Amino acid sequence: MAQQTPESSALPLIRLRQISKSFGGIHALDGVSLDLNSGDVVGLVGDNGAGKSTLIKILAGAHDATDGVIELEGRKTTLSPPAEAQRLGIETVYQDLSLISSFNATENFFLGREIAFGGGPGLFRFIRRKAMMDVAMRRLEELNIDIPGIRSKPVERMSGGQRQLVAIARGAFWGSKLLLLDEPTAALGVRESREVLDLIRRLSQQGLTIIMVTHNLEHLWQVCNRVVVMRRGRKAADMASSDTNMEEVVAYITGAKGRVDSLANASVQQEARP
Ligand SMILES: Nc1ncnc2c1ncn2[C@@H]1O[C@H](COP(=O)(O)OP(=O)(O)OP(=O)(O)O)[C@@H](O)[C@H]1O
Ligand SMILES: [Mg+2]
Repeated sequence: MAQQTPESSALPLIRLRQISKSFGGIHALDGVSLDLNSGDVVGLVGDNGAGKSTLIKILAGAHDATDGVIELEGRKTTLSPPAEAQRLGIETVYQDLSLISSFNATENFFLGREIAFGGGPGLFRFIRRKAMMDVAMRRLEELNIDIPGIRSKPVERMSGGQRQLVAIARGAFWGSKLLLLDEPTAALGVRESREVLDLIRRLSQQGLTIIMVTHNLEHLWQVCNRVVVMRRGRKAADMASSDTNMEEVVAYITGAKGRVDSLANASVQQEARP
């Protein structure tokens, strides 16, 4: 985990307070509060439609909250548009990965970041570009990402798991504070999932704060120190993974356990909150 100063450990990295998001009449998120501490690896779980991706998109700056406050290191902030969240050190890997298939790994690192190469005459830009590609390649090597031919191979010739590794490494390359992963192991086999989970663990050991959406509780337990359960747009549970077990988490996901469920049969929308 990253070294923390006393001040930085006192404040959560990000604090969401009573965040709501509606799409027309649909309350995708309803009064969600969440403190993310530096170094957390949070497993975000819940049934289909529970609000996980919407919460990720709020943190990624892709959605504006309808209501509520976001604080970054103690200061009220706005994360949208996505370029603003990125500027603040928040990177997102969506399920479609958003890689250009005919580009190789490091070319994909710099997609949409041409500004990183700066201006100036073509030759200087070319040299700077080459130097930055080398930095990206060294980063991939440091992370022990073992993809044969990675220097030149376009991502279309990589497996799904290898593409996922490239997309996560790209996020980690730019995201200095928070990495958001929406179902990073969803379409992967056993070995590929293990490689992706190993990478997530290594990034967390280097101090990156991570939120991982998953439907796979075994994967969650392999990397996450915290579990947040969403149910019907609300946070149903928020626990240290060492304080709970899969059975209990499933009970929160299905609503067999938890405050939200006891109220949910009435109206999901407008219950009194404490
Ligand atoms: N852009 C949108 N427009 C309208 N409704 C939306 C939009 N995005 C999400 N929703 C609705 O908000 C609710 C929460 O959706 P969300 O995608 O956050 O769920 P999720 O927990 O990620 O589910 P899944 O596990 O299926 O990915 C759902 O009822 C969904 O239909
Ligand atoms: Mg989703």
